Amino acid sequence: MCGIVGCIGSKPAAPMLLDGLSKLEYRGYDSAGIAVRDGEGDPVVVKAKGRLKVLEEKTNNGHSVPGSCGIGHTRWATHGEPSERNAHPHMSEDYFVVGVHNGIIENYQELRDKLIRKGYQFESETDTEVAIKTIDYYYKKYQMGPIDAIAKTMVRVRGSYALAVMFKEYPGEIYVARKDSPMIIGVEDGETYVASDVPAILKYTRNVYYIGNLEMARLTTEGATFYNLDGDVIEKPLTEIKWDAEAAEKGGYEHFMMKEIHEQPKAIADTIASVARKGDQGKYIDLETLELPEEVIKDISRIYIVACGSAYHVGIAAQYVFEDLAEIPVTVDLASEFRYRKLLLDPNGLVVIISQSGETADSLAALRIAKESGVRTLAVVNVIGSSIAREADHVFYTLAGPEIAVATTKAYSTQLIASYLLAIQFGHVKGLLDAARVDELITEMETLPDKIEKVIDDKDRLQWFAAKFANEKDIFFLGRGIDYAISMEGSLKMKEISYVHSEAYAAGELKHGTISLIEDGTLVVGVCTQSDLYEKTVSNMVEVKSRGAYLMGLTSYGNYNIEDSADFVVYIPKTDEHFAASLAVVPLQLLGYYVAVTRGLDVDKPRNLAKSVTVE
Ligand code: M6R
Repeated sequence: MCGIVGCIGSKPAAPMLLDGLSKLEYRGYDSAGIAVRDGEGDPVVVKAKGRLKVLEEKTNNGHSVPGSCGIGHTRWATHGEPSERNAHPHMSEDYFVVGVHNGIIENYQELRDKLIRKGYQFESETDTEVAIKTIDYYYKKYQMGPIDAIAKTMVRVRGSYALAVMFKEYPGEIYVARKDSPMIIGVEDGETYVASDVPAILKYTRNVYYIGNLEMARLTTEGATFYNLDGDVIEKPLTEIKWDAEAAEKGGYEHFMMKEIHEQPKAIADTIASVARKGDQGKYIDLETLELPEEVIKDISRIYIVACGSAYHVGIAAQYVFEDLAEIPVTVDLASEFRYRKLLLDPNGLVVIISQSGETADSLAALRIAKESGVRTLAVVNVIGSSIAREADHVFYTLAGPEIAVATTKAYSTQLIASYLLAIQFGHVKGLLDAARVDELITEMETLPDKIEKVIDDKDRLQWFAAKFANEKDIFFLGRGIDYAISMEGSLKMKEISYVHSEAYAAGELKHGTISLIEDGTLVVGVCTQSDLYEKTVSNMVEVKSRGAYLMGLTSYGNYNIEDSADFVVYIPKTDEHFAASLAVVPLQLLGYYVAVTRGLDVDKPRNLAKSVTVE
């Protein structure tokens, strides 16, 4: 995935473009570039390999590039290595069409061959250059206007894209188009902006339009005009972004990840408060905003949870909670597998897509497949107005606010909360949980924010422990049931930011092969929050200890006999065991964070990763 930004108005464009790109660097950070036009002149294009700061130095923070209309891009390489040549913007001959792109053009090779036969030459290995030159080709061959040339290109290309393009013959205008890649347009006092994500333009405006799939727009200083694929003008509502601009800043923390770990109590409290109400019979859950009536819930025979990465791990934890509280059978699938499987979906089933960004390509494809099969869909999404949120039949918005660090923390935590709330309500509607039990469960959930604060307060101990193990080669995480789901997330947090190899295992699976990997001193983290499985997991921990493992135990206060086996123990406050993942994940987030910091790594932007994966 990549980040796009563009602006047009009366102010210098380049400093704004660089500022906007700095808020999108989480989307890609192997190279960056800008193209800025001063009046009717040709655009000045500057690109640089590496982090954005290289481009900032090259352009004196944008001050050496005059003009008030421009586009910029920060890249996460898909086609062609990270290099200045492959960095965006790309252009056709003589700067006729200059553009930036996020997404993947799947049939780029076929189009490239065709364009070469028509006399086009290519400077880069990117699919983007092919898209830009295809627009140029239609524009010139059919002497069309920009909207028609872009529309014709949209029909011709396969794949996903958000495009921002300038045409030589249309100074003071930017044209944009999108399919399956995010893009928003902002307007404020004669300045018009385009970006892949809200934080890039939040400093400049809160008034945004969400451009839909297969739609285009023409941006001028007067605002935006929207078009459908037929070239007809369409109307769009203006939406006000309610976030606090500070929510997308580091606010004194060294890294976004640490800030976001600390934001979990508030994010969780907000998400609970969004649907929890108090009535005569105590607290209850109101899913009115999801437009999910009780008659529909009663008929749900099966739940299919589909997601990627950490959101998938939420699904694994949610499976246990749904099956226990609502007695509905649940299957959990990775979206990248679900979309290519022969699906025998129950017509009375409910497909639940979990996604922070709401733009993950595989999750979006899975949602569409479910819809095509006629099965009801519900999305648990953080980013308002994202594709998954727009296309699902029902949406549960998690209120995590903007999450910038690539490694998810607060979004993961709010997704867990959303799944507990759904499971409780489904159990209630099915007559399995009476009003008193619902009140009790909600009341317990409301204690989670304070309990998370307590876990975070103990972070110095984890920092000390992480420093001891920062040079580990392998780390293993074990657990059963919900503890297995927690282990999966703990392991992902560790490997994605610290680059230490780690694996999560269902504790009972260990002796079917994995135990042979245990060597003297290998760190093994045993997660033991579920009382009915506690002794079994501790036995598995003892087995690896007898093969030389160094054991870290993660359990609830009160389970002090774990100290007979574990070398180091982290305790979490007691809670209803359905909710244990919400507390136990926090020390594991901190562990991954501190190992990465001790190793001197860029925690917020781990190598080869991007925040939302909008390509397959
Ligand atoms: O935006 P999504 O929730 O759909 O993203 C899914 C995964 O890419 C994401 O959870 C990823 O695994 C995290 N960055 C890991 O911390």
